[in-house]
Formats: sequence, C-alpha cells, structure tokens
Amino acid sequence: MSGHGTPIPMTSRPCGPLKGEANVPGDKSISHRSLILGALSVGETHITGLLEGEDVLDTAKAMRAFGAEVIEHGGGEWTVHGVGVGGFAEPENVIDCGNSGTGVRLIMGCMATTGISATFTGDASLNKRPMARVTDPIALFGAQSVGRSGGRLPMTIVGAAEPVPVRYEVPMPSAQVKSAVLFAGLNVPGKTVVIEKEATRDHTERMLQGFGAELTVEETDEGRVITLTGQPELKAQNIVVPRDPSSAAFPVCAAVITPGSDVLVPNIGLNPTRAGLFTTLKEMGADLTFENEREEGGEPVADLRAKFSPDLKGIEVDPARAASMIDEYPVLSVVASFAAGYTVMKGVKELRVKESDRIDAMAKGLRLNGVEVDEGEDWWVVKGLGHGNVPGGATCESVLDHRIAMSFMVMGMAAQKPVSVDDGGPIATSFPIFESLMGNLGAQLVRNNG
Ligand code: S3P
Repeated sequence: MSGHGTPIPMTSRPCGPLKGEANVPGDKSISHRSLILGALSVGETHITGLLEGEDVLDTAKAMRAFGAEVIEHGGGEWTVHGVGVGGFAEPENVIDCGNSGTGVRLIMGCMATTGISATFTGDASLNKRPMARVTDPIALFGAQSVGRSGGRLPMTIVGAAEPVPVRYEVPMPSAQVKSAVLFAGLNVPGKTVVIEKEATRDHTERMLQGFGAELTVEETDEGRVITLTGQPELKAQNIVVPRDPSSAAFPVCAAVITPGSDVLVPNIGLNPTRAGLFTTLKEMGADLTFENEREEGGEPVADLRAKFSPDLKGIEVDPARAASMIDEYPVLSVVASFAAGYTVMKGVKELRVKESDRIDAMAKGLRLNGVEVDEGEDWWVVKGLGHGNVPGGATCESVLDHRIAMSFMVMGMAAQKPVSVDDGGPIATSFPIFESLMGNLGAQLVRNNG
C-alpha cells in the first residue's frame, strides 16, 4: 500500500547517454487479471512474469481474502488455486486495495453478483477517486453499495444473490469499468452485453476467452459490442505476463530526450489498445525501431530500441488514440517539453480522475521547471523548448501518483538542472525496480534522505 509510508524525496540529475537493456517488469493490467481470473477458475493457474508491485500485491491479498489460494514462488512466479465462478467467500476484513483503481474496480465487479458483502478501502489517492462508474452498472445486476459522499471509498458492496443479466453502454472510455461489468456478468445466467464507443485495452476480453469463457466481440455502428455468456467453468491456465508497455514508456522516453542514448527494451507487450505512445513518439520524430515482432500468450510482443532523437517536433496528438496511451500522457508531456513547438493533447478528461489529476499535476511541475503549459477540462498544450533548452531545477509534487513521480525523474535526465520530486515512494506501486533499472542505464537518481 502506497501513501502510508514516510515520503521518499528523489532527485534526477542531468546525465550522460543512457545505454543498455531495460528489462521492465510485467504488465500491470495483465498481472491483476491473471490473479483475479486464476481465483475465479477451477484448478491451478501458473503465472510467470507477474508484476510484483504494490498494486498487484494488494490484489493478491484480496484474492486470498475471497478464498483463493495464492502462492508466491519468487522471481515473478505465482500459482493460484481458484474457487470457481461464483465461489468467492465473504472476506472477514476490509479489503485494502492501496493505490489501485484497477484492483478495487475489477474486484468489486467480481463479487457484485455473488451473495456476499465486502468493504473496500484504499490510500488517500484511491479514496478520492470516483466509484459510481462501477456501482452504477453493478446496481443493474442487483448489487447495492454504500460509500462516502461522491461515491467514494471506503465503500461496502452487497452482492446480488439473484443477479439478472444486463446490457450496458460504458459512458466513458474505461477498461476498468468494462472489465468490472464483464466480471460481474460471469456469475449471471444468460448473456451480459457491454458496449464501448471507443476501444479500450482488451486484456479482459482476450483473457476471458483464454480461460474458456464464451465471449464475442463485434465492431458495430454503436461501437464494440461484447457479449459474454454467464456461468462458464473457467479453466486454470499457464500465463506468461508480457512486459508492461506503460513501464517501458519511461526508459524509452528517457532515451529519446537524453543525448547519445541507445536503449533496448526487450519483450514488451504491443497490444494495439496499449501502444499509442509509440505511434505518437514516431510522429514527433523519435528514433524507435521494433525488432523480433512476435505473438506470445495471445498478445503481440516485440523488442523496442529507442535512440536519442535530437529533432523532435511538437504535434497535435490524434484524440482517437487517447485510450491506447492514456497512462502515457504524463511522460509524453515531458518529451513534448524537449520538442520544438506545441504539443496539443485533446480528448483526455479521464486524466483528471487517475491516481491524481494528471493534467494539473504535470502542468504545475512543468511550469515550475520552466515549461509553459495551457490547459482546459479535457485538453492541454505543452510549449516545447527544443532539445537542450529545458531549464529544470525545481521540486515537483508527485501527489501519490507513480507516473507523475517517474515522469519528473525522466525530465531531470535531460534538463539543464536537476529535477526533484517530494515523494518517489509511489513508484513502487507499478515499477519497483525503476531506480536500479534507470541507474544501470546511466541515469543519476538519488534519494535525498539518505
Ligand atoms: C486499466 C485501465 C485504465 C488505466 C489503468 C489500468 C486497466 O484505467 O488507466 O492504469 O488495467 O483496466 P481506466 O479504466 O480508468 O481508463
């Protein structure tokens, strides 16, 4: 659980070229889902490459609390003995999901159609985030919820003992909400239909099919129509978790802005619903090459080489790509600071309800470091200063948000002066080896309190 410990102030100093291999951790989205689907299956699911960040560890604890046997073998290898669809036991205690919106929202979906109750809480960041986006659709199945004002945690969900299937159009582009509804639909007789206007990450659909559920996806004029047949027997699987493109984003962007760099990020997941950042960086003039493109465990994977790119230019990012790079806008705004001209990012209001209000957090920190930013409710614009011209020199607030902390650490690598954050602790939620991995490439990251 992040946000409970002593703050860890960190500084990133301008550094020489970043060189070498960046073996980033397993994909966070797929790691959560591997544990959850393992818990909902019959038999022993074997997972390798699991991300052992705090968010995922909190989901592992939660699955134990609901009755699954979850065993850690070391080095990212885990097994889960599931309880089967509808087999969740009522937890004896409050479920603490720490910093993780994905964890809490997906798990609420899973228990919403079983006749048990559970109370959820999280850290100061998670307890501010909107949960009505999940409690609204699960109420259609018959689940009840009582939380704090504004639909916030802590919150108790009383699952529906006799759930009915639903047809639900997800009102915002959110894979978490889509997944919560699909997981709720698992324990319901009949067909649950989820419609999304814009495609969001599709790991839940792919993995449900992989675990043996009957699930179809149709592209229609209404959007993507996902139909799940309820009450399947999910069968335990062997899962190899690909490396996280959202974590790869940090060494890749650092290499692109730091003179002389040449970094290889092997084995990263390149699911098209996740890879928007790399398309955007290429449009800006980044030197990226994909090597060894292949498929592993139902997900496209490749090795990505990123080199210093001295002639980056600002662009207008295609808003249709927003969902496929939603977690990467903070670090993109850092790259945009080193590009020549304006980078315009539109259609991104979801950034305001992440682990922090990411437009606000980045705009504040970029301005402190000498970069001009303009913003509205669902857009922002960064005025790039060009390579070599970003002043740096300030301390930014990471507001309990791992991606804000890592983005400012990347900025410090190529700015004129060091860049600091008040608390690098949240980095452990998704990228616990960030400091050592970046240090091995040549970054100069230090903890300021020893
Ligand atoms: C995630 C979905 C996204 C993303 C988050 C992980 C998932 O959130 O930002 O980091 O694993 O389903 P939203 O569903 O809120 O867009």
